[in-house]
Amino acid sequence: MPYRVSIAVFAALPSSAAAGVQSVLDPKGLHADRVADMGWVMFAGAALIFIGVLAVLAVALYQPPGWRGRLGSRGFVVAAGIGLPIVVLSALLFYAFGTAAQLSRAGMPPAVRIEVSAEMWWWRVRYLDSEDGVLFETANDIRIPAGQPVEFVLKSDNVIHSFWVPNLAGKVDMVPGHVNRLRAQAHEPGRFRGQCAEYCGAQHAKMMFEVQAMAAADFQAWTAAQRLPAREPGDARLLAGKRYFMRACAQCHTIRGTAAAGVQGPDLTHVGSRSSLAAGVLDNNIGSLAGWIAGSQHIKPGNAMPSFNQLSGEGLRAIAQYMESLQ
Ligand code: CUA
Repeated sequence: MPYRVSIAVFAALPSSAAAGVQSVLDPKGLHADRVADMGWVMFAGAALIFIGVLAVLAVALYQPPGWRGRLGSRGFVVAAGIGLPIVVLSALLFYAFGTAAQLSRAGMPPAVRIEVSAEMWWWRVRYLDSEDGVLFETANDIRIPAGQPVEFVLKSDNVIHSFWVPNLAGKVDMVPGHVNRLRAQAHEPGRFRGQCAEYCGAQHAKMMFEVQAMAAADFQAWTAAQRLPAREPGDARLLAGKRYFMRACAQCHTIRGTAAAGVQGPDLTHVGSRSSLAAGVLDNNIGSLAGWIAGSQHIKPGNAMPSFNQLSGEGLRAIAQYMESLQ
């Protein structure tokens, strides 16, 4: 069983918080299965060739001169140096082409279509209807129904990024002026980590996202909740937070159901329901919300949002509480 081997290999590597939720060696989806199979076939092929080369090297070093003479003969050089690589590499190449063709074949129509646009440095996520209309927008938080085919429509209008959720599918570049598509289908509900896989500037390493595969009913409930406008502040404290928000943040951020309609930054209509802030950099809680608003340039230097360190402590707390209330 190659997956047993993969677990053994992985256990021998330095442990990391991302192991398991961000690993090609732990496939959790239809397309990732194929990618992992291909990886193991390539690895086995390379290992066999490596063992063969070592055997020839051992013969050359330790066997009597007659053997060495045979290794130096024209027939052996042509067969092992040209013939064998052509046969082996061609076989692996056609196997890889076959797998790639299998992965790109559309198959069943997707149950959900999600447009993901790479921003610097976060992910704008739009759920689409069958006519490419936008059902709702969110950021850095992608949810899909488990067991159903999903299509990602991948875009960028700045630099090249690359969309990669190793447990679910291969990586696909997001190229300005071009739309790429990627299919994925998770076997079971679960949480997986995605990461930008193409260097895209200062904060490339802090450009993560989460994909949550959910049971069908949970997914329907989530999309229904996301399509609703933001809930109205229930008390004076949250109302004050909303007022501060409208003064400081509404030019760049949208909160559906309010006058805030900026499109430069992430849509914050349901920001309180997301698992992380700043594209996977911070856990989402009231403390990190306040910290991010006051010190975003300290946490993620060069990002498009200035540090709002001129806000009063009271204003900062009020905005953070209001953000947290937007479930
Ligand atoms: Cu976006 Cu690297």
